[in-house]
Amino acid sequence: MENEDLDELMVCRLDQTRKTVEPCSIVIFGASGDLTARKLIPALYHLYKEKQMPPKFRVIGFARREKTDASWREELRQALDQFSRTKPVDDKVWQEFSANVFYCMGEFSDLEAYKKLGKQLDSFGDPQLRNNLLFYLATSPSQFGEVVEQLYKADLLHKDESKGWQRIVVEKPFGHDLASAYQLNTELTRYAHERQVFRIDHYLGKETVQNILMFRFANSIFERLWNRDSVDHVQITVSENLGVGQRGGYYEEAGALRDMVQNHLLQVMSLVAMEPPVSLDAEPIRDEKVKLLKSIRPLTPEDVAKQVVRGQYFAGMVDGKMQLGYRQEAKVKADSNVETFVAVKLLVDNWRWSGVPFYLRTGKHLPLSASEVRIQFRPTPSVLFAAQCGNKLDPNALTLRLQPNEGISLRFNGKVPGTSTSVRPVRMSFSYNSEFGAYTPEAYERLLLEAMAGDATLFIRRDEVEAAWAIVDEIRKGWEGKPLTNREFYSAGTWGPMAADDLLAQRGHVWRNPQPVT
Ligand SMILES: NC(=O)c1ccc[n+]([C@@H]2O[C@H](COP(=O)([O-])OP(=O)(O)OC[C@H]3O[C@@H](n4cnc5c(N)ncnc54)[C@H](OP(=O)(O)O)[C@@H]3O)[C@@H](O)[C@H]2O)c1
Repeated sequence: MENEDLDELMVCRLDQTRKTVEPCSIVIFGASGDLTARKLIPALYHLYKEKQMPPKFRVIGFARREKTDASWREELRQALDQFSRTKPVDDKVWQEFSANVFYCMGEFSDLEAYKKLGKQLDSFGDPQLRNNLLFYLATSPSQFGEVVEQLYKADLLHKDESKGWQRIVVEKPFGHDLASAYQLNTELTRYAHERQVFRIDHYLGKETVQNILMFRFANSIFERLWNRDSVDHVQITVSENLGVGQRGGYYEEAGALRDMVQNHLLQVMSLVAMEPPVSLDAEPIRDEKVKLLKSIRPLTPEDVAKQVVRGQYFAGMVDGKMQLGYRQEAKVKADSNVETFVAVKLLVDNWRWSGVPFYLRTGKHLPLSASEVRIQFRPTPSVLFAAQCGNKLDPNALTLRLQPNEGISLRFNGKVPGTSTSVRPVRMSFSYNSEFGAYTPEAYERLLLEAMAGDATLFIRRDEVEAAWAIVDEIRKGWEGKPLTNREFYSAGTWGPMAADDLLAQRGHVWRNPQPVT
């Protein structure tokens, strides 16, 4: 058999596991908001364009402002021109798609508005469009409980899913600590079963984050090295080139720890470090992720002082332009202690990872935007090369580049050609775009499709959210009452405060910074 036939066979086999999506209605609460215009409608339009939407569907937007179906469609069209990932927008496709889009004006607290929504669903004259309902809560988390309660009272949400299926998609931030996340979960599960709740972390919708699982478990060569015997340490970096910009008000409440570590970084870490699931179904995967989060060694306040570094940027040059310091940004207090950078060393108390540090870091106004996981293997014994290299022979490393320029590279040592026996690191690289062609669906496309299909693999389960908050709460406790010190400030445009380098130096490690895409 030719290689290409083999490729065909494999692709087909994996494709057969794809779920069918039944006809349904998607109700977006917060229809006039930024998220709807920027992400949700462009994602639904692209799913339609790529023929991935169910054969019959409707989209209903719910918000306070007065609009008609026509005026909302017009606004969405303008937003699509701005935010669509493919340009220009295909007018014919938009016309077909938008014929399925409707608006329902209402206040979240008003039961009558939900009854009106029910009538609108009835008017579609199709039991599946009436009863298979995806409720997307593009609202503040403080409104989740109210919306869900009213949906239940208006007979639109059924915990036992006795009439069709109903699912609730909720956005981050999912709480601001363990207690508030617990409270939110309790409010949601008063009227919906946990299996109906789909908590979004858009990072999990990224193709390359999903590829971590495929890479680990569809290949035998790396998985056998994926443990304390071979791995020296792991670095996970999610760096952002931009500062907080206009989001100072939000950021003052959140900070990098809550905004990035609690969700994206711990999610990536759990995928990198979890045990193989018993199947690729949602629950076994989520079971393993929770198990991993629970095996992270809890941090005492003394550990926090030694294992966690905060930072805040002051004014500095980023890409040749002078940028404001965080304390000078709009809606930020002049003496703010909010962290715009976090680096943390976590230890995992399980058989596979005992003693292997996981270094996680994220920050704003760093030299470039990139997300990478670096698995650094143990160094070789230096006996053979001691004369040439001392103990400086570069250890092997595997880098999973999540964005941009998604790919995987393996760094190993090669002999420099010639008569000498010099050795230097070389790289073997694989790029998704070069291999498969550019394929960059927005995370929201994948996530909306999965939610319609009822596959919760890429969504966060209640116990996962709570386990992640438990870790983050301990860190916050360790910071309480301690203002930032001089060593924790960093100039915008650098890789964070010096204290972050010291964190790794404790074990003789150094940060390997993501490199610009060439
Ligand atoms: N924007 C993003 O890219 C993004 C990304 C990730 C997560 N999120 C999260 O997603 C949520 C929504 O964000 P957003 O940026 O879209 O917010 P936004 O622009 O402020 O929009 C809020 C929406 O909720 C509606 N609304 C508020 N109170 C209402 C009420 N009492 N009754 C009826 N409708 C009401 C507003 O309707 P009216 O206009 O009619 O008042 C508006 O449509 C937030 O929790 C945010 O943190 C947003």
